[in-house]
Amino acid sequence: MSLSPLFFHILILLAAIPSPSEAGSGKWQLLHKSIGIVAMHMQLLHNDRVVIFDRTDFGLSNLSLPNGRCRRNPREIVVKTDCTAHSIEYDVASNTFRALFVQTDVWCSSGAVSSDGRLIQTGGFNDGERAVRIFSPCPTCDWQEIASRLAARRWYATNHILPDGRQIIIGGRRAFNYEFYPKTKATAKNAYSLPFLVRTNDPGVENNLYPFVFLNVDGNLFIFSNNRSILFDYNKNRVVKTYPDIPGGDPRCYPSTGSAVLLPLHLRAPSDVRAEVLVCGGAPRGSHEQTLKRKFIGALNTCGRIEITDPNPRWVMETMPEGRVMSDMIILPNAQVLIINGAALGTAGWESGRNPVLNPLIYKTDSPAGCRFESQNPSNIPRMYHSTAVLLRDGRVLVGGSNPHTCYNFTNVLYPTELSLEAFSPWYLDPQFSGLHSNMIAPTSQTKLKYNQKLIIRFRMTGKLTQNRVSVTMLAPPFNTHSFSMNQRLLVLGTSKLTTLGRSEYQVEVTTPFSAILAPPGFYLLFVVHQQIPSVGIWVQIL
Ligand SMILES: *[C@@H]1O[C@H](CO)[C@@H](O)[C@H](O)[C@H]1NC(C)=O
Ligand SMILES: *[C@@H]1O[C@H](CO)[C@@H](O)[C@H](O)[C@H]1NC(C)=O
Ligand SMILES: *[C@@H]1O[C@H](CO)[C@@H](O)[C@H](O)[C@H]1NC(C)=O
Repeated sequence: MSLSPLFFHILILLAAIPSPSEAGSGKWQLLHKSIGIVAMHMQLLHNDRVVIFDRTDFGLSNLSLPNGRCRRNPREIVVKTDCTAHSIEYDVASNTFRALFVQTDVWCSSGAVSSDGRLIQTGGFNDGERAVRIFSPCPTCDWQEIASRLAARRWYATNHILPDGRQIIIGGRRAFNYEFYPKTKATAKNAYSLPFLVRTNDPGVENNLYPFVFLNVDGNLFIFSNNRSILFDYNKNRVVKTYPDIPGGDPRCYPSTGSAVLLPLHLRAPSDVRAEVLVCGGAPRGSHEQTLKRKFIGALNTCGRIEITDPNPRWVMETMPEGRVMSDMIILPNAQVLIINGAALGTAGWESGRNPVLNPLIYKTDSPAGCRFESQNPSNIPRMYHSTAVLLRDGRVLVGGSNPHTCYNFTNVLYPTELSLEAFSPWYLDPQFSGLHSNMIAPTSQTKLKYNQKLIIRFRMTGKLTQNRVSVTMLAPPFNTHSFSMNQRLLVLGTSKLTTLGRSEYQVEVTTPFSAILAPPGFYLLFVVHQQIPSVGIWVQIL
């Protein structure tokens, strides 16, 4: 009998299928019925606490400030004397939270974690639009505010941490410019103009807010706004490259609110790091105007993927199983992307979304185009406008928020204000894979790393080791709000010399990131990934 080429083709396909399967899996867990506030912004810090905040002008929240404290603020719009909290610190290990005290309005603000691990959060609305707020990771710490520290108002801006440890703050409503924090005396008042934000501002609708910003491997910033993108040299205030418009031309930024990630960077050799960006979902042009007439159009079901380091970059389009607007894109430790939360109709904005999409999607970054999406088990809680998601050290994804109303509205409304907190456990946390799950022994938590150095990773795993299926990844935990995760970055380190140390104990050598351009200084989560199944991460700090 002669075997047809098709037979071999099928054999190869079967061999390429990873043994663990992602399809139709994932588990939801309700952590809290109410945390008292809407999780509109979230950031994981290196003490495994998540700083969560809402806005101060939704009215009274469902969480009182402790010790009879109250915020008395004549400039506040809704309640001038407010004894409720609008921010919390969530402790992952104990699944408990405590109230924090924000002094000005943090609504639709932005932030980044500095290299020493403090959350630097900027802007907001009204009395908060030019504030800088700092949160240090300590069990009793609280927000510290510096009023009027920004050069321009920053409402719906995007922040990114830079290789020199400063952060850049880009755009915001009617702010067609950028600035840096911290500032020197000489630059204190400086905002630098960015005409690209004017060009991508659709009058009356905007679509240029919360632009998608990524630090490229050449040190320039990739900035995507509306349907366009540029490579930008922020030191010289110069556009280095203009990319083609995303095919179809539909807007992807707020309020059309798709999402985007810088796909995992494979650090093979210093001169050979390519960068790709993936933009998914959003709303067709005109959708926002339609929502004002109470018509809700289907969200975009397309993603565009582009290699931004290619000399002749072009978008390659892919199709999701369903249209999605207001979804979050979370990079998992194994280099897959989780697309979670959102709606099938409408846009971001008050009362503007319909048909929540309850099932997350896994995007298999390294699979062939056409078979990258796998639908996951659904939640039963709609998470639409003002919802969030962040990855935790143990590989779960913390999910909270959703409030499409201008107040806290719990009854007699479509999609009531959502105060609950959930965790989504991706497929790799299923008990059937526990044998393949590795435990890192070295380095230990809070180890300090230098750039471009050899590092020995030791781990234990009870299952059978598959030699060429071990990788080591480093993740920068992002600031998540409005479907965009600022500073989200996964580095796949170069590995060599995988050796067996003893029964179920192994060691692998990796090279730490080559430079601060590839990995801006700060805290990262380090994971060993075996057969796409990540270990629990450990915190490292690269300086
Ligand atoms: C929030 O507080 C209001 C007023 O006390 C109450 O009616 C509502 O049920 C609470 N909501 C949640 C989700 O806890
Ligand atoms: C991109 O958006 C602008 C409006 O902001 C529009 O004029 C242009 O045609 C769009 N590009 C494409 C390819 O449709
Ligand atoms: C939400 O509640 C506020 C006051 O509590 C009320 O004025 C407003 O009409 C409610 N919104 C909706 C959409 O019902």
